[in-house]
Amino acid sequence: AKSIEADLVRVLCTEEQIQERLAELAQEVWEHYEGEDLLLVGVLKGAVMVMADFMRHLPGSAPMDWMAVSSYGSGTKSSGVVRILKDLDADITGKHVLIVEDIIDSGLTLSWIRTNLLSRSPASVEVLTLLRKPDAAKVEVETRWVGFDIPNEFVVGYGLDYAEGYRGLREVATLAPHVYS
Ligand code: PRP
Ligand code: MN
Ligand code: MG
Repeated sequence: AKSIEADLVRVLCTEEQIQERLAELAQEVWEHYEGEDLLLVGVLKGAVMVMADFMRHLPGSAPMDWMAVSSYGSGTKSSGVVRILKDLDADITGKHVLIVEDIIDSGLTLSWIRTNLLSRSPASVEVLTLLRKPDAAKVEVETRWVGFDIPNEFVVGYGLDYAEGYRGLREVATLAPHVYS
C-alpha cells in the first residue's frame, strides 16, 4: 500500500473541527427531540464515521438502523439513479427518524431517501449531514442540521471515498486531480 498523503491537496475539516462540530450538533439534536424516541438512520457506507462519532456525542442513547442505496458506483459523478441495496431492518411507522449522512452533494441521494422514508408514515423525518456543497445542489433537500458547507470540490476522508479508498482518513481533504483524471 502506498502513502495517501501525496493524493491529498488540502485539509478542509480537521479531526478536531469535525469532533467539535458533531458535539455541538449532538447537543442541539438531543434538545430538539427532548422526551421523544429518536431513531438514527445511517446511509451506508459513507455515514459510518459520522454515525459512530455523532452517536457517541449524544447525551443519551438512541437506536440506529441502516440503509444502503446505490447512486454513484465507483465514479465521481452522481447518476441520479437510486436503488435500495439494503433496506431498514425495522418498520418506522410513528417513529421520529433522523437521517445521518456524510455529505449532500447534488442532493439526489438524500432527496430520494427522504421521500422514500416519508412514505412509510413516520412521525417525522429530519436530516443531519456533516458536509454540504451548496454550489453542487441539483435539488434542494430540507436539512435541519449541517456540519460544514464546503466548496464544490471532490473531497475524501471521514467516510467519503474515491473508488472505495480514503474512507479511513480522520479529516476531510480535497483529492488531487491526478488521482481521478
Ligand atoms: C455519496 C455520499 C452521499 C451521496 C451524496 O455516497 O456518501 O451518500 O454520495 O451525493 P449526492 O448528494 O450527489 O446524491 P455514495 O453513493 O458514493 O455511496 P457510499 O456512501 O457508499 O460512498
Ligand atoms: Mn453515501
Ligand atoms: Mg461513495
